[in-house]
Amino acid sequence: MEKQIGFIGAGNIAKTIINGLTANFQEINKNIYITNRSKGKGESLRNKFQVNLCHTNIELVKNCDIIFLCVKPDVSKLVLREIKDHVRDDQLIISVIAGVTIDDIMKYFEQPKKVIRTMPNIPVVVREGMIALSGSNEVSDDDLNLAIDLLSSIGRVDVIEEKMMDVVTGISGCSPAFLSIFVEALADGAVLQGMPRDKAYQYIAQTLVGTGKMILEEEIHPAEIKDTVSSPGGITIAGVYALEKRGFRSTVMEVMEACDEKLKALRR
Ligand SMILES: NC(=O)c1ccc[n+]([C@@H]2O[C@H](COP(=O)([O-])OP(=O)(O)OC[C@H]3O[C@@H](n4cnc5c(N)ncnc54)[C@H](OP(=O)(O)O)[C@@H]3O)[C@@H](O)[C@H]2O)c1
Repeated sequence: MEKQIGFIGAGNIAKTIINGLTANFQEINKNIYITNRSKGKGESLRNKFQVNLCHTNIELVKNCDIIFLCVKPDVSKLVLREIKDHVRDDQLIISVIAGVTIDDIMKYFEQPKKVIRTMPNIPVVVREGMIALSGSNEVSDDDLNLAIDLLSSIGRVDVIEEKMMDVVTGISGCSPAFLSIFVEALADGAVLQGMPRDKAYQYIAQTLVGTGKMILEEEIHPAEIKDTVSSPGGITIAGVYALEKRGFRSTVMEVMEACDEKLKALRR
């Protein structure tokens, strides 16, 4: 890796990405630069991964080819105002800031810049995240491929139209919470029938992983999995009927609708 990679904000998501990069690319730590508001946190990340700690965001921008924006949305305005006069046209900005659009970032600069907006979800902590990515018009295929290469260290990357980012928020950002509630509910059912809770979680979580792999790796349609498991007059179809009678699918669709409504309300 020839490129110098900067992270403005050395918090949870920066740590997760750096963890993936250092596991995936040999000696990449020498090319990584970080900054953070509080000194202690920056120093602790520097010591953990042996990366370079910059004193200011401007120093970082001057040193790097790729700049990850990893601050909270409310801080992003401050950071963009601080760095705007120092970002060159050849540099690539990769923002992980939820809800901040490419246009929101672009308006800080007099000339259009290469900006990639990305949305990773929580399983990136085990390098099994789903990462959506959209680029500004200035982003070339090489830039996109570079970003995909880097972010593949923490999961599966998909390039989408930016207008789909709102859907991604619900389906990918929020869904680990919904899936976890389903896991808990299944476990409660197992506990009710006498299975120890930790064993129930083990069975359900492995089933979740395995079912996901069948869909992703074997490209088996979810309906086919359901149909295969549901033998005529059998146990699974009795469970499917109980779910459908209580409006499981429409409830889940309404959950997605609630996420979208909340997102739009927050934006207003
Ligand atoms: N965590 C995730 O899984 C995840 C997933 C998708 C998207 N994101 C997005 O990633 C962004 C960061 O989230 P996070 O969970 O990593 O938050 P976080 O742990 O709070 O990290 C943000 C970091 O930014 C630092 N910071 C604040 N002001 C700064 C400044 N002016 N210059 C440089 N650094 C500054 C903070 O330092 P101090 O603590 O010292 O103030 C903090 O370490 C958010 O916009 C979020 O939407 C996160």
